[in-house]
Amino acid sequence: MLDLTPDMKLFSLRLQDPAVAESLHYEVGQFALVSVFGVGEAAFDISSLDAPRAALEFAVRRVGTLTEALHEMEEGSVVGVRGPFGNCFPMAEYEGRNLVVIGGGSGMAPLRSVVNYVVQPARRERFGQLLILNGARTPADLAFKHEFEKWASSPQTCLELTVDRGDDDWRGRVALIPDVVRELKPSPLDCVAIVCGPPIMIKFTLKALKDLGFADSQLVGTVETKMKCGIGKCGRCNVGDKYVCLDGPVFTFAEIGRFLEEF
Ligand code: FES
Repeated sequence: MLDLTPDMKLFSLRLQDPAVAESLHYEVGQFALVSVFGVGEAAFDISSLDAPRAALEFAVRRVGTLTEALHEMEEGSVVGVRGPFGNCFPMAEYEGRNLVVIGGGSGMAPLRSVVNYVVQPARRERFGQLLILNGARTPADLAFKHEFEKWASSPQTCLELTVDRGDDDWRGRVALIPDVVRELKPSPLDCVAIVCGPPIMIKFTLKALKDLGFADSQLVGTVETKMKCGIGKCGRCNVGDKYVCLDGPVFTFAEIGRFLEEF
């Protein structure tokens, strides 16, 4: 368990059954359902990489009863986990292209595995330039600080941080993410932009990217919504005519349009 921000923790789950742990395979962007016994179950994006695999990691913000219960747990506690479910970021398709990864607040959680996948030295040269734009309300709310140095020192990689409100120690940028996008002007040429965060931030960030010439098919997001079964049976997770648990959670703007701005 690692404190990422005042209200967000990184949980590392070790599977109890070695055979299941050995056979587990998941892709960047997939999610799993985590249950706290006696409290309930909720979907969380898997924030770790499949290999090298030490544990299954989830970055969880304290926002309700179940996440509250998770945050109160002691090291070594037992939870249930089902998955992996859903589609993934098509990382092989992104090879050879530039990537812009934009996370607002806890929206950086599902994007952490994208960044860590690309910056792995063994595969870094398969991708073009990587721009990571990580924004939060305050410096304390910036998640994954322990990985910033690794990200920023990766070749052809630029890490930009921004906050809505600085503090006495903050010497960085104080600006909203869409304004930073307008300032940095990433080129849409051979580029994919992956955006995740609060709906209002997504809405204006997508607009800024579109104004720069990004096409709907170049804009990718991951949808967080209430899920129950995770396997396309209960109908709880539909977005338009799609089920997030089966067709998502990763979608392009071309696929689900304005719904990407609403989750
Ligand atoms: S969670 Fe049941 S259909 Fe998607």
